[in-house]
Amino acid sequence: MDNRKIDLPPAQFGLPYDCEPTLNDAQVFDFCRKGYLILEGVVDDDVNRRMMAFAAEHTDHQPLELLTEEWFVEGVFKNPQAAGAVRSLLGANFKLPQTLCNHRADGPLPPQDWHRDGGSIYNNRIDYLQVFYYPQDTPPEMGPTELIPGSHFMRSKANYMGHIRSVKPVKSTASPAGTVTITAYPIWHRRGRSVLPGVRHLFKYNYFRTAEPRRDWVIDPEHDFSWPDMSEVEPHFEQFRCGIAAAELFSWLCGEQFSYVGGTGWPCEAPVKPGLCDQEGLPAGLRRFAEAGIAELA
Ligand SMILES: [Fe+2]
Repeated sequence: MDNRKIDLPPAQFGLPYDCEPTLNDAQVFDFCRKGYLILEGVVDDDVNRRMMAFAAEHTDHQPLELLTEEWFVEGVFKNPQAAGAVRSLLGANFKLPQTLCNHRADGPLPPQDWHRDGGSIYNNRIDYLQVFYYPQDTPPEMGPTELIPGSHFMRSKANYMGHIRSVKPVKSTASPAGTVTITAYPIWHRRGRSVLPGVRHLFKYNYFRTAEPRRDWVIDPEHDFSWPDMSEVEPHFEQFRCGIAAAELFSWLCGEQFSYVGGTGWPCEAPVKPGLCDQEGLPAGLRRFAEAGIAELA
């Protein structure tokens, strides 16, 4: 393996960075459930064009020269919408990526095996995020990354995962140029089948947490956490299991104590949501009503 070291001039890579958070309570909870957030076309066209020109000239797996290019760091790593989402999930003064790689896929190609990337930690915390950036339009025919919603909670050995051929549901990250996809690192994924000739570029990099977790994203004081909608990602799980794991993860992000009370306690969903009360088991800091969890009736 080529393990060469490149000495780059001093730059901002790997340093703490802060910006305004952009995600609200519902969006952070949704990330906890699904394990991904797709921000379509958020990078400027000019930056995308420069990236494509750069990628044509630099075909290596780790084009680290980008780390010292201000137009790249500002336009991609510090992109206001992408970095704002990262800020929401990792807290203030998160660390910018220290490195990156370009997953070039020279189509046509069969799909990859399902896998999670090496180095995954399974716990109910978000201390680091894996992010993908497409500088070009990446339709289904070009083999965009596919994700299994909620699979960041599914603990399976890589050698078993590779044998899985048919999975439903799958989320394709097919999207226009400038799309940034933020993922929980252990999410199951693969490069999809590409049927077109030509190179698909996918830049991949990690951000890291420095702050203690607390609920300091875009707060919606009216948001009702009780009986959340748990549709879409449950099919892979025993009923409610993904939601319970997501609730524990979300509680950790809020700096709240989570204690699953079982049965129909938080976060198990219900087709009909009771009105003015908080669901049993909802952490104290997420409640809208008094200690008893019931609205005071005047
Ligand atoms: Fe991968």
